[in-house]
Amino acid sequence: MAASSARAALTSIPLFHEKLRKSNRILAVCGAGLSAASGLPTFRGAGGLWRNHNAVDLATPEAFDADPGLVWLFYAYRRHMALNVKPNPAHYALAELARKKPGFRCLSQNVDNLHVRAHHPPSQLSLLHGSLFSLKCTTCPWTDPYNTADPLCPALAPAAESSPDPTKPLPLLDPSQPLADIKESELPHCPDCKKELVRPGVVWFGEMLDEQMLEDIDEWIEQEPVDMVLVIGTSSFVYPAAGYAERARTEGRTSVVTVNLEITGKDWESMAEGDFGFEGDASLLLPELLGPVIGEVKGEEEG
Ligand code: APR
Repeated sequence: MAASSARAALTSIPLFHEKLRKSNRILAVCGAGLSAASGLPTFRGAGGLWRNHNAVDLATPEAFDADPGLVWLFYAYRRHMALNVKPNPAHYALAELARKKPGFRCLSQNVDNLHVRAHHPPSQLSLLHGSLFSLKCTTCPWTDPYNTADPLCPALAPAAESSPDPTKPLPLLDPSQPLADIKESELPHCPDCKKELVRPGVVWFGEMLDEQMLEDIDEWIEQEPVDMVLVIGTSSFVYPAAGYAERARTEGRTSVVTVNLEITGKDWESMAEGDFGFEGDASLLLPELLGPVIGEVKGEEEG
């Protein structure tokens, strides 16, 4: 009896709305599940394999050093996919929450640029893992903050093709079809030092996140107690993102709210009193959950 009434509180939308209305300092920590309804695959679910490579194994400086052509094809394909999908109602709902609640701050692990395309106010958005659409030199300080060329260079054209037969996967994605051997000289080179390769402006495993951004987030968390943390569409395996909900928690004040397609028994057990869990597609849940504050979600990308 006690257990079932506790679970009722954890999933009650009216109770969540009551807490949301009273909350001013709100943090969101987002992951790939937020963009799943837009049509982008997550990392650890189905679709986490690229050809026969684990997507996570391609996201390392070592993989790039060993085979820059392969890693560039992987990123060129992700750029192409991200350019060809649209933000979904969850991105628009978060952007509107930022406009309605100046004390809301969104930390996203997603590099797909969909928060930006949904007009999330930039001062309330931290892109923890960078962006697919920024480029940097592997060695010198050169960066290009926004580049949407698709393909980025002729050698990466196989990543920007449509399948000639829509019933069959793109040849690039079919591990039984060999990849063209891309020479380093065919990949983008730094226009500044003119020597080294250009790489995607994303944070790879084993690399540091932007130091200034991390300091700003720490300062924000420590300023005043946080009323609510929304943990949306992330498996919470990768740090520092996975640690922010507990870091921001002030016992008795902060509600940690999990929004995920799948909430495991262990997740439910780890929730504290006053926390919430909503299981389902974030693109359907967020507009409903945030509705009393943001009104109806009208998502439109500007031209
Ligand atoms: N709505 C809500 N949640 C969803 C949906 C959806 N439509 N679809 C999937 N999910 C959930 C899954 O249940 C899973 O918990 O989203 C989560 C996605 O987890 P991951 O694939 O591990 O993605 P993420 O947490 O963003 O990964 C973190 O790991 O590989 C690196 O740098 C990459 O930023 C990424 C980081």
